[in-house]
Amino acid sequence: MRNYRFGMVETIECPSRDVRERQLAAANFNTYRLDAEHVYLDLLTDSGTGPLSKEQWSAMMTADESYAGSKSFRDLETYIQETFGFDHVIPTHQGRAAEHVLFRALLEENDHVPNNTHFATTEAQIKDNDAIPVNCPIEAGRSTEHDTFKGNIDPAKVAAVIEQVGTEHVPAIMLALTNNALAGQPVSMDNIKTTRDLADQHDRYFIIDACRYVENAYFIQHHEDGQQHRELPAIAKEQLQHADIITMSGKKNGLVNMGGFVALDDDELAEAIKEQTMLHEGFYTYGGMSGRTMEAFRIGLQEALTPRFIEQRVEQTQDLGQLLEDRGIPLYKPVSGHAVYINASAFLDHLDVDDHPAEALAAAFYLEGGIRTSPDGTLPYDDSHDALLRLCLPPRTYHRDHLEDIAETAATLLEDSNQIPGLEITKEPDHESLAPFQRSYHPRSL
Ligand code: F0G
Repeated sequence: MRNYRFGMVETIECPSRDVRERQLAAANFNTYRLDAEHVYLDLLTDSGTGPLSKEQWSAMMTADESYAGSKSFRDLETYIQETFGFDHVIPTHQGRAAEHVLFRALLEENDHVPNNTHFATTEAQIKDNDAIPVNCPIEAGRSTEHDTFKGNIDPAKVAAVIEQVGTEHVPAIMLALTNNALAGQPVSMDNIKTTRDLADQHDRYFIIDACRYVENAYFIQHHEDGQQHRELPAIAKEQLQHADIITMSGKKNGLVNMGGFVALDDDELAEAIKEQTMLHEGFYTYGGMSGRTMEAFRIGLQEALTPRFIEQRVEQTQDLGQLLEDRGIPLYKPVSGHAVYINASAFLDHLDVDDHPAEALAAAFYLEGGIRTSPDGTLPYDDSHDALLRLCLPPRTYHRDHLEDIAETAATLLEDSNQIPGLEITKEPDHESLAPFQRSYHPRSL
């Protein structure tokens, strides 16, 4: 049963085949470069693309837009302090800005930062400080077959990094909840505690990227031994309490279109982060967010941390996974809380990794159904060739009919999958971190 109804109508339309062909060519076969008005179902991301609730809209009407110490900030701060359990809350305009101000304050040249897997922005922010991001996913994440908590970090790999470069060059260990760069897989409470112990053992900071912390808590509650009897908010809070520092993009489990923060207890580091915030974001009581955004963010955090939201959120994603699996689409399993990841290499097994199977399949999804998806690179193992295509569901947005359309489009593509051409790169942008978004392609001949 769905426990919300729609309060605002947004018309969407599938452009004709002719328009789709022209738009894809104009976007140089890179679906990131399509204009949204030419997209029917947009599964590019769940980041800030969902609708707001009535409660969020009404709170925005009473926002305080004062420059310093606004009530909208104080209310958001109090909510985060009480729910996440940290003294200092430093607002930023989104997640990567939280990473930016934190890493500017924390990292030195040649520092190493181990993580279960760095999301693209985290990796780029670390490199921007001349430091080195190190992915330490468990080996089970390599397999596309079902297993639990494949988002975990491998403590032996972290210990090896510390051993190799020395404790003084590893200021922090990170965990992303969930592990978006590894097919959105969750991290177990046990693994979070192990990471805490490891950080304590070496007297290092433990940072949690809390983008999708409620989804992670859902998986702990449903699949981890000894957790089933616990309430979701208690699990969600405990995960975060093991960390010293939280970064969060409010655009995911904050259910807001824009927003983020860093939270921590360390007074000295908090001062250094505030200074960076004032340089790059704005005064440290708004950090790039308007009062209206902070109101919507506070209510969004509350709404996301309820079983009624999160169960429907995760179950809708699982439903899409099931519809695709029923049609024989090769998936990375298990299905995550926010996206279904198609194994593009298996779907297009006539293509090589150099043919960019995920990008080729993304182009085919758009041509066939006006559906925009996001190529997600290969799995984070040096020798992995499994390219994934992410079908990411914005929260509270699409109907089941839409999910069926997506599954039917996938089934049609699978029937003649060997007719889908690979793509070759025709233009590479200058900046490495922009490459997936800016690259130009051309279809190879079959
Ligand atoms: N960390 C994770 C795990 C993320 O998934 C993202 C964003 C960020 C940090 C950065 O947050 O976008 O607010 O600056 N992920 C989006 C996505 C873009 O599509 O998965 P941001």
